[in-house]
Amino acid sequence: MTLLVQITDTHILPPGELLYGEIDTARHLQEAVAAINRMRPRPDVVMVTGDLVERNEETCYRHFIDLVTPVEMPLYVIPGNHDYPDHMLEIFAGTPYFPASKLTYQYVIDDFPFRILALNSHLDDTELPGFDAARLLWLHDNLRRSKKPTLIAIHHPPMRTGIEFLDMGGTEWFQGLKEVITQHPQVKLVICGHCHTDMTGRIGTVPVYMAGAVAHQLVAARGADVAPASINEPVPPVLHHYLNDEFVSGSHPWPAHIEEIRIDRKSGISWEKLKRLMRGSLN
Ligand SMILES: [Fe+2]
Repeated sequence: MTLLVQITDTHILPPGELLYGEIDTARHLQEAVAAINRMRPRPDVVMVTGDLVERNEETCYRHFIDLVTPVEMPLYVIPGNHDYPDHMLEIFAGTPYFPASKLTYQYVIDDFPFRILALNSHLDDTELPGFDAARLLWLHDNLRRSKKPTLIAIHHPPMRTGIEFLDMGGTEWFQGLKEVITQHPQVKLVICGHCHTDMTGRIGTVPVYMAGAVAHQLVAARGADVAPASINEPVPPVLHHYLNDEFVSGSHPWPAHIEEIRIDRKSGISWEKLKRLMRGSLN
């Protein structure tokens, strides 16, 4: 069993600065980190799927590093549209968080029963995704190299969301990705962020899990082109549980008082007895 925790779109600013003058993204990340450290069983690895910072500034990245340093398990990051990968390479040098090389800014983690391929969909000076030939070739080569079950992490969702302003990048940019993934059935799951809303879909036959943001949520109408609303609330971390060669995924809050609110403690009935009641047996 391996447990991968995903958080995304943390949008960290310099210490003391609030996003849009009202959203304390640092506090939201601090709370996510505390929840991850409390989780039992302990997760094996944490992946932050991009938009680590709001602005491509060293003080934002230093603040991000300070906030994730308390994470008690291996943590990895990928670039989002707000992150400039070449700058990330400089800032994260000397940390284990971004073991990417120049050209593609992508990397492989092979320390678990599944491989993680960390991709880069950043396109300079735009919110829109990019996935050029060099990145695609890298993906193809790395998938050819091993048949081990694989999870792909990428910032932008390689699928249509049905939300017009999020689909502005079109579907062309992920056609190559789709073709390569389709040729490699070891790819079990694609995880992403970007849209500040949670959603599942598919690329080819592979499930895509898009996690809501740590910074704030966007609520967008479906099938109507109106501006979204922003809610100043984080979502809990997402847990991707690798189970029998597949992933099962979902929101995974882990509040500080979780032991007090366990149903056996609250009801005074033992867990064994509660399970017998669930099975319809009164004895
Ligand atoms: Fe974002």
